[in-house]
Amino acid sequence: MYSKKKDYILDPMVGSGTTLIEAKLLNRNALGVDINPEAVELSNNALKFDFKTDCKQKAIVGNAKKMPNIKDNSIDLIVTHPPYLNIVKYSDGKIEEDLSSSGGMVKFLNDIEIISKELFRVLKPNKFCAILIGDTRKRQHYVPISHYLMERFLKTGFILKEEIIKAQHNCSYSNRWAWKAKKYKFYLIMHEHLFIFRKPNKNENTSIFPWSKYRVK
Ligand SMILES: C[S@@+](CC[C@H](N)C(=O)[O-])C[C@H]1O[C@@H](n2cnc3c(N)ncnc32)[C@H](O)[C@@H]1O
Repeated sequence: MYSKKKDYILDPMVGSGTTLIEAKLLNRNALGVDINPEAVELSNNALKFDFKTDCKQKAIVGNAKKMPNIKDNSIDLIVTHPPYLNIVKYSDGKIEEDLSSSGGMVKFLNDIEIISKELFRVLKPNKFCAILIGDTRKRQHYVPISHYLMERFLKTGFILKEEIIKAQHNCSYSNRWAWKAKKYKFYLIMHEHLFIFRKPNKNENTSIFPWSKYRVK
């Protein structure tokens, strides 16, 4: 819905390459970036299946905070899925710039803000940036990582087009949490947030969307 055939799609935290596989199946060009060389190898291997396409998809090693080989205003759609703080570690702390090795929430959100600025730079005006992100629980209380992330993207200048809730049943983490939830009386988290942000046009009057802009002073 947010892209068309032959468009250029970017996933700056590509992991095992789902975005690239779907881009191949939908005949889009796509670049995947990941800080972890193992993820890049996994993604490039996952692309080795027979399917007739005249577009290119590939993954490269890089840092989503700075992608100097991608020109300003050149990408038609960004689709990505950052780590949820350090809930799942993607490199066992061995790669310093891996967001999942970050030293806590403040550092994680500051890195997310830097990434949101880089994504704003490379995306074409009036195009979309989709971010899938989940929340967590600490000391039996809810930690809305997604809300904090959304604020950083709004602060950068994106405006919010959609918030889509992705129901998440039968998650492999559920068993680990189920007994705690019962004992301490809290609910299991069974959803993730898919934010669809739009980069405004150059001279667009965004004051007509005051509810979807950054409001915290
Ligand atoms: C939730 S996973 C992505 C999963 C992906 N959607 C898939 O299809 O497998 C997050 C990824 O972000 C990567 N990552 C973490 N910090 C990064 C950074 N600074 N720049 C680029 N990639 C990063 C991790 O290595 C990991 O592969």
